[in-house]
Amino acid sequence: MKLDYSNNKELISEEKELITPSIRAFQIGEGSEGKHLKKVVEKFGKKTNDEAYIKAMDWFILEENRHSMTLKKYMEVYDIKPIENNWIDNVFRFLRKLMGLECEVVVLVTAEMIALSYYTALSNATGSKLLKDICAQMLHDELRHVVFQSYTLHKIGVRRNEFINKIVRGIRKFFMRITLNVVWVKYKDLFRNGNYTKKTFRNDCLEYLKQSIDIEKAGKLV
Ligand SMILES: [Fe+2]
Ligand SMILES: [Fe+2]
Repeated sequence: MKLDYSNNKELISEEKELITPSIRAFQIGEGSEGKHLKKVVEKFGKKTNDEAYIKAMDWFILEENRHSMTLKKYMEVYDIKPIENNWIDNVFRFLRKLMGLECEVVVLVTAEMIALSYYTALSNATGSKLLKDICAQMLHDELRHVVFQSYTLHKIGVRRNEFINKIVRGIRKFFMRITLNVVWVKYKDLFRNGNYTKKTFRNDCLEYLKQSIDIEKAGKLV
C-alpha cells in the first residue's frame, strides 16, 4: 500500500493527545534487531533441517522493523517524539529472551494478538486517512504473523509429549490475561474511543488466542 505523508493537517489536537501514549509504545514495540530471535531460529531451523523457516523469520523481522519505521514516520509528521523505552516493552523483551524459540514466539504472538485489537481501535478512533491506511496495513500483516507464529508453535509442539503442550497452552492463556489487563489499564482511553469496552477487548483477545491455539494444534488454518 502506498502511503501519502504529505498531509499534516488531518490529525486534530485532541486526537493527537489521545493517540500519543499508545502509538509511542507500539512504535518501540514493533522495532527490534531480533538478535536473540535470530539465534534461536537458526538453532531450530538447523535441528529440523528447515532452511526455509530461517529465511521466513528473517523476512518477519524485516517486516516488523518496517512497521516501526512507518509509525515513526507518521509521528514525525505530527511532531510526536519517539520514546527510548517503555516498561511494558522492557518486560516483553526480558521475557522473550528468558528461554528458547518457544518462549520468544509465545511472547511475540501474544503482543501481535493484542496489536490486532489495538490497530482496529486506533483506526476507529481517528479521522486521519493516513493513520487509517497505516492501521489497515498493520492489520493485514499482523494477522498473517499470528498464523505464522502459531504454526511455529505447532512445529515445536508436534515433536514432544502432549501433556507439555497442554501446560504451554495454559501458560499462554494466563499470559494473555495478564497482558490484556495491563494494556487496557494503560491505554483504555484510546480503546474506548475506538469503540471497545473492557469486555469486548478481552473477548477479542481471548478469541484470537483460541484461534491461535487451534492452528497450533492442527498445524494449519482451521
Ligand atoms: Fe508489527
Ligand atoms: Fe507482527
